[in-house]
Amino acid sequence: MVIKCSVSNVCLESHNLAFEWYWVLVIGACPTFINILNYNMSLFATRCVRPFFFHHYTLETSSFVQIRGYAARKGTRERKRKAKVKSVVEKVGFIPHNQRDKEKFLANRKQRKVDDSWKGDPTDDVYVAKYFKWKVYPFGEAVQCHRETHHPDMYNQPNANLHVSIELDMQGEKKTRFLDNFTRIVATPHRFDHGEERAVIAFCKDPDLQQSAVEAGAQLSGGVELIKQIQNGQVSLQDFNFVVAHPEILPELVALRGLMKRKFPNPKAGTLDVDLATLVKKFMYGINYTAVKDEYEKDFGIIETVIGTLNMDAKHLEENYVALIKDVYTMKPRRTGEFFRRCLLWSPPSQEKLKVDHESYLDIPKKQEVEEDDDKDSKEDRIAL
Ligand SMILES: *[C@@H]1O[C@H](CO)[C@@H](O)[C@H](O)[C@H]1NC(C)=O
Ligand SMILES: *[C@@H]1O[C@H](CO)[C@@H](O)[C@H](O)[C@H]1NC(C)=O
Repeated sequence: MVIKCSVSNVCLESHNLAFEWYWVLVIGACPTFINILNYNMSLFATRCVRPFFFHHYTLETSSFVQIRGYAARKGTRERKRKAKVKSVVEKVGFIPHNQRDKEKFLANRKQRKVDDSWKGDPTDDVYVAKYFKWKVYPFGEAVQCHRETHHPDMYNQPNANLHVSIELDMQGEKKTRFLDNFTRIVATPHRFDHGEERAVIAFCKDPDLQQSAVEAGAQLSGGVELIKQIQNGQVSLQDFNFVVAHPEILPELVALRGLMKRKFPNPKAGTLDVDLATLVKKFMYGINYTAVKDEYEKDFGIIETVIGTLNMDAKHLEENYVALIKDVYTMKPRRTGEFFRRCLLWSPPSQEKLKVDHESYLDIPKKQEVEEDDDKDSKEDRIAL
């Protein structure tokens, strides 16, 4: 394209027709300085140079200014027109300060659910962990790994507690319903020191059974005379965490119902059974665990508990683990889909968490069987617990 300037007969030639052409001829404002300014307006020029020149070389300030401006691009005009429109400030109703924080907190919050099922399996021994699925360790190997880090050469805590985190899908039967927190105790095949102070009181009529309950670990056991002592105030129920009983003493025990309230033995809570010694052992030495539902991510629940110590036999630890997950699984709501998200083994002070399998330990029935097997009673059980 050739542009001819009639005043100075200067030809401007340019082959670059990318955007807009502006040329400004200034004579008079500074007579020795005759400039033909030729601007190929790139994006930079549109934003910065043009406003600058229009500001400095206007018709009033120079005796002769020729400005030839080709029309701005459609897109530019559009943008300017839009910029002129006043932005309307949306009015927001009053939000109490604690809720304002909550929104901010939620926005910045990292999701607690971890789903790596879409990631691929690693194809090599060395890989960037975050791009692949988490490795699922065989139980024994995971224990071995933790033993290595807790070896006297490293953390030097060979008998540290072995913790397990079980992440749950708290989704209830309906989309809008979620399971609540639940606390349970599960009998463990292999005893370990859980470090909690627990006291159990056992009720039964048979003196032999009372004796066996004490041998099993109950702080106190007795029959009708013990019920009297409690009524007299000689013995306080406050001193006991758990009350267990043999069904034969139930008619007499009813007198204490008001005192015991929720501790009153019942089969649903698993505190009423013929085998009193086993019952006492369960409450004394079992694994106490609580599933905590996330306050915001309501379908995320987590159980964190201890299943033993690292110096225990790996097989025994595995059996404790299996007992635990089987018990947790009884809380699964009547719906399809997974209940367990994943299970992790860890052992403080190490931060390392190793994923272990759960599916192979649970004989998860097929979809149809679930619907047939579960009746209304078991559903009510779960809600009550
Ligand atoms: C069970 O463990 C929780 C902590 O997870 C604790 O608060 C509670 O007191 C324990 N229950 C008993 C009976 O020790
Ligand atoms: C569940 O337990 C957690 C931790 O103890 C608590 O913050 C939360 O309020 C509980 N949720 C319900 C629904 O009780």
